[in-house]
Amino acid sequence: MGPQAGGGEVTVTDTPALVKLTDVSKFYGNIRALQGVSLEVSAGEITCVLGDNGAGKSTLIKIIAGLHRHDAGSFEIEGEETVLANPRAALDHGIATVYQDLAVVPLMPVWRNFFLGSEPTKGRGPFRRLDVELMRETTRAELLRMGIDLRDVDQPIGTLSGGERQCVAIARAVHFGAKVLVLDEPTAALGVKQSGVVLKYVAAARDAGLGVVLITHNPHHAHLVGDRFVLLKRGTMAGSHTRDSITLDELTRQMAGGSELDELSHELERVAESGPDRPSGTADTASGTTAP
Ligand SMILES: Nc1ncnc2c1ncn2[C@@H]1O[C@H](COP(=O)(O)OP(=O)(O)O)[C@@H](O)[C@H]1O
Ligand SMILES: [Mg+2]
Repeated sequence: MGPQAGGGEVTVTDTPALVKLTDVSKFYGNIRALQGVSLEVSAGEITCVLGDNGAGKSTLIKIIAGLHRHDAGSFEIEGEETVLANPRAALDHGIATVYQDLAVVPLMPVWRNFFLGSEPTKGRGPFRRLDVELMRETTRAELLRMGIDLRDVDQPIGTLSGGERQCVAIARAVHFGAKVLVLDEPTAALGVKQSGVVLKYVAAARDAGLGVVLITHNPHHAHLVGDRFVLLKRGTMAGSHTRDSITLDELTRQMAGGSELDELSHELERVAESGPDRPSGTADTASGTTAP
């Protein structure tokens, strides 16, 4: 019975992706860190970037976060070609990045870290001061809204577990209105249980309508929450899949496939190099390595 217009074919399906990289390359000097990498993330979706160490995952998110500029290819934010000058510019576009080594002040309370750099004040002129009560209340409320029940927002953030800190960082990004949340291996240092908790809040951020880019080398974690999967291998695309086009087994196989064997052969090479026939009296002083 609503005031429906006649031409009902107007839909929102043409909304451009929040972030879209196409054929992006990045060189550090003449080291090729990325070549021809494409990725997109839309509102309410999680795009997982998978790959072994050195695959280029961090480089990719540093481009999205405005820390590095791409050398080739295109970077669109909501359909507009963009070159981010710095991380501030990324934030202004609503792109929030949570790095693995979270920038927190361990001895400061949780609420203080939650508002770090964006503290609300009250009063004017010489009476202007931090609105502590507002920060406390807001932190408590925002964490609860994400389903995070911290015993005490006054405790130093350093007393939280790694997983809890990741969760606070995610809640913070949601609170400050991020459209895109980029997470660099948020579960890498965590046990099974804590990883599960963090993934739950990653999903909560998605359900709050954010587009999430989740970096991980764990196909199980990726498959639990991901809508899209981008596989990187030595800086190039080794695969790009949607959730319904790949099973966990296949994702795991693609992740493990060559790379495990590569690693093993490197390891064996190293063993061979430092083997028993290594000349012990001729220490290589230039190498800076220490022999036992
Ligand atoms: N600042 C840098 N200068 C030179 N080479 C770099 C720099 N950062 C990364 N690299 C190289 O780029 C490649 C990709 O690195 P990175 O993006 O950190 O991979 P990942 O996060 O997947 O482990 C690696 O070979 C790495 O040594
Ligand atoms: Mg990395």
